[in-house]
Amino acid sequence: MGRRQDTKKREAPKASSKKKDATGGYGKTERLSADALGFQIRTGPDAPSKTGASMDIEVSEIVVFAGKQELLYNATLRLAQGHKYGLIGRNGVGKSTLLRAMAERDGRVPIPQHFMIMHVEQEIKGDDTAVLQSVLQADQEREWLLKVEQELLEKEDDGSGQEPKVGGVGLMEVYERLEELGNDDAEARAAVILAGLGFSGEDQQRPTREFSGGWRMRIALAQSLFVQPDLLLLDEPTNHLDVHAVTWLEEFLKTWEKTVVVVSHDRCFLNNTTSNTVFLHRKRLWYYGGNYETLFPSSSKGKSEPCKFLVLVVRSVLLARRLLQVANLKQFIQRFGQGHKKMAKQASLRPWAYCPLMTRIGRVQALCYTLLLLLAAVTLKELPGLGPGTLRRGEMSRAPRLLRIRPVLALTSVAAAPLVVRRFDRSFARCENRAEQSLDQFLKSSKAQQWIELNSDKSQSCLVNTDSVDWIETAAGGVRRKMIERLGGEVARATTVVNFQPNASFPAHVHRGGEEFLVLQGDWYDDWATQPAYTYVRNYIGSKHTPRIGPKGCTILVKLCQMSEQHKEPDHSQWDISESNTNWRVCSSISGRRLLNVFESPLEEVHFERWQPNQSGDVDIPETGEEVFVIEGSFADELGEHRTWSWSRNAGDKQRLKRTSGPQGCLLYVKSRHLRSPEVDIAAMQTPASS
Ligand SMILES: Nc1ncnc2c1ncn2[C@@H]1O[C@H](COP(=O)(O)OP(=O)(O)OP(=O)(O)O)[C@@H](O)[C@H]1O
Ligand SMILES: [Mg+2]
Repeated sequence: MGRRQDTKKREAPKASSKKKDATGGYGKTERLSADALGFQIRTGPDAPSKTGASMDIEVSEIVVFAGKQELLYNATLRLAQGHKYGLIGRNGVGKSTLLRAMAERDGRVPIPQHFMIMHVEQEIKGDDTAVLQSVLQADQEREWLLKVEQELLEKEDDGSGQEPKVGGVGLMEVYERLEELGNDDAEARAAVILAGLGFSGEDQQRPTREFSGGWRMRIALAQSLFVQPDLLLLDEPTNHLDVHAVTWLEEFLKTWEKTVVVVSHDRCFLNNTTSNTVFLHRKRLWYYGGNYETLFPSSSKGKSEPCKFLVLVVRSVLLARRLLQVANLKQFIQRFGQGHKKMAKQASLRPWAYCPLMTRIGRVQALCYTLLLLLAAVTLKELPGLGPGTLRRGEMSRAPRLLRIRPVLALTSVAAAPLVVRRFDRSFARCENRAEQSLDQFLKSSKAQQWIELNSDKSQSCLVNTDSVDWIETAAGGVRRKMIERLGGEVARATTVVNFQPNASFPAHVHRGGEEFLVLQGDWYDDWATQPAYTYVRNYIGSKHTPRIGPKGCTILVKLCQMSEQHKEPDHSQWDISESNTNWRVCSSISGRRLLNVFESPLEEVHFERWQPNQSGDVDIPETGEEVFVIEGSFADELGEHRTWSWSRNAGDKQRLKRTSGPQGCLLYVKSRHLRSPEVDIAAMQTPASS
């Protein structure tokens, strides 16, 4: 996120011969325009609210490109003053680019100049300014007025009998405008915002450079909330916030009176903060007078029949896909085992040929789904806002007979919808159960012996002390492992401690489901870099490397197939988590505990913690649970004693845990948010890659 405030380049004032003073004024009695001042004026006689300028936005014929790709064509942006809009659309459709185009004011989306726009997208740059001060300074108009006040107070009366002015503004006006900006309680308001976003009183006085990227993004957000621009653009604001800060932000935005556009993958956040939805689809903007939940109801309870109908169609398609995957996986493993790449390719190319399950349930279902889709298509065309509109007169006469009686069909399908919904809800549930049971049974059968489920249920809390788990030698010579968590066959979602013999080397391989590891002992080398002990590494889906082990051997904690296509990452990232990393910061709530934030995305958050010996404190656990691995030392909590190289999962049933570090203190790897996030499909990955 970064706070971008109207980045349009402003022309220098014409009177260049005049000397510029501390207030930015040229010719001190001349009234300065917003262009000369370099910020939008929100108070005084020149403010849009006084000049009667409209605060609604209507910009048509918008065309936006990203490189050569056309993202919007002939679209219309319509934002009413004080409304809160959720901007939605599938990944990569151009939501972020549109927000950027609105904020950059480079002519792509010509929003009137009198609008003050702030776009929270990137973190602020860290420097020596205290956090609280940086938030206060974000209000450029207030800063300017304070300087003008200072200059006017220092100014001597020139005896002309006229009120002294700086930048065309006299002292009385300065006071009135500062009052309009709420200058009296500015510091208190800034402090409240910062506290809501997780900054303690002590943190607020620390220089911004001491904070990690994620926290500097919170500062960027705080600055925008403090300034209250006419148009606030938030791109994934919850990405860098914990659950407390998200709740606080939701409450804060409820009382927000200006226009806001929010892009967020977090449906709950969208539902709680927005009242209107803009759908970016097929290069156009479509408007709905309701939030995300109204548009895409998550449950069919209490929703209109056409909405239920739409949900059913989507669910039916998903079920058909699931049935296909299950049947295909079973057939493939039964017939060919897992090693025949040629066969695997054939199976994946012609899935229907290997699906008796689909042919049995599928024929009747497929017919019904087709009818449903037809009815839905016809019905939805007639529903306001959901279809592209009705055919024009000329087209009607040329339309086939079926379309001519479309109104009749539409009425019939709407009337029949309740019956169809009830009928298919029941059959859908039965089929879904059958598919799941069938997969369950199969996985437990001897035909899928390679399948292992070990501590794999993410909804269950558990603690594994690996000192009581045996090393298992693997087929690759010189490699042994302690399994901690596993789900899958040869390709598995797995959390494992792996030990490699000195100087071992391995062939190049691709990470089909992504790989995340932590070097516990020794050195690891690969194409990317040397990764000594205390290195945390992420190799994203599709990345490739050829690892080699150092002369002392190497032990790592590795997590495989726990990433998702839904959030792209660089192919390789690594962090030094040793003491020498300067980003370790003191945790204000528990003495003797320090934190190092390393990775954060909408799907997961990873940080490290160092605890001094024998320290105790109540630790907040995110609602979505967390995973902890003890790299050094030990600690204890309600789950038991966590010794060195122990792993635990708190599924989120406890929101607060009292933890006490052992006599050597401890160094912890802590991962959260991921337990309820999507990840690669392990069942689908049992088919070897066709390359
Ligand atoms: N600077 C650029 N040059 C070329 N293509 C770009 C550039 N920036 C973005 N794109 C492409 O433009 C498209 C829209 O990107 P954008 O980030 O706006 O989408 P989005 O809707 O915000 O996606 P998401 O939901 O994943 O955040 C994507 O296909 C992206 O790859
Ligand atoms: Mg985006």
